[in-house]
Amino acid sequence: MNNITNSKAKSETTPTKTSEPKKLEINHQRTCNCPQSHINCLTGKEWVKKQVAIWECYYEKRDIRDKDVHPAAFPISLPAKCIELFTHRGELVIDPFVGTGSTLIAAQDLGRNAVGFDLQKEYVVLSNSRLKEPTLFGSETEQIAIQTDAHDIPLYLNEGTVALVVTSPPYANMLNTKRRNKSMRSDLRKKHYGKVLQYSNDPRDLGTMEVEQYSQALAEIYGGILPLLKPKAHCVINVNDLWIDNQRIVIHKYVIDALESVGYELRNIIIWDKRNLVNKVGIFGWPSNYITLTVTFEYILDFWKPAKLVRRD
Ligand SMILES: C[S@@+](CC[C@H](N)C(=O)[O-])C[C@H]1O[C@@H](n2cnc3c(N)ncnc32)[C@H](O)[C@@H]1O
Repeated sequence: MNNITNSKAKSETTPTKTSEPKKLEINHQRTCNCPQSHINCLTGKEWVKKQVAIWECYYEKRDIRDKDVHPAAFPISLPAKCIELFTHRGELVIDPFVGTGSTLIAAQDLGRNAVGFDLQKEYVVLSNSRLKEPTLFGSETEQIAIQTDAHDIPLYLNEGTVALVVTSPPYANMLNTKRRNKSMRSDLRKKHYGKVLQYSNDPRDLGTMEVEQYSQALAEIYGGILPLLKPKAHCVINVNDLWIDNQRIVIHKYVIDALESVGYELRNIIIWDKRNLVNKVGIFGWPSNYITLTVTFEYILDFWKPAKLVRRD
């Protein structure tokens, strides 16, 4: 057993410079009997289905869709697909921007250890309380959310222990504009019209940063995480592009550039097909300005830690 319970007690306070947090003693070894060369516990039949690069993700009752609780939670089924693809039972998953804890719940369901990090105490408290909900999946594994700046993740974990990083990061300060929500269902559009969807005013919050500073912060955070990964461990980032003032803000390009600059290699681009979630959209641009609706899909960018690291400065 590990001492994660002790760590949990102090997890809900931001570490200060004077008291550096103790490394978590969380298990990270496989508990399955899969051959060493396998990258997951999937059968060949299950693997074939997952090769399709367009994913649909379903929402379930446990998912948080109320934007007053959190403006941008993804469905538990999204990190669950990544965990099944890139880890074995018993291995360690981390989410640097854990929000409401969706990744931790997916890990709990699938028998993986997991640690999530978020700047905001209320999200950390929410994540840890969601993990206490009764679950059908009895598990020997542990999941925990910790309140800290993602820059500090290396203070909590040992090198070479993490099998997967999966997250949806903030989109720089791009959501800090008054929402017009033209693509939302009319009832939701009214509810959120004019609201500014942002997580906090904390200057460390990536959601407050201009894109260049954002890209730099992502590079620093993921550069710090890289040594924690096992060789060839995957790192999955779910992002979307945005249209602001008739300009496409290519968030996914900033993310790719930031991660490649610190040594990650992009392996796959998967499209999260959200057409089943979008209804009653208006006509945009017709008849003279063609713009695709970025709400109809998101990117799932799959990087890995290459066997031989190459830093691009
Ligand atoms: C898109 S949300 C993640 C939502 C999450 N996937 C879920 O399902 O709830 C991004 C999160 O990053 C957090 N965040 C922003 N800057 C951060 C930082 N420097 N360190 C840690 N967390 C940060 C925000 O508080 C926010 O909850």
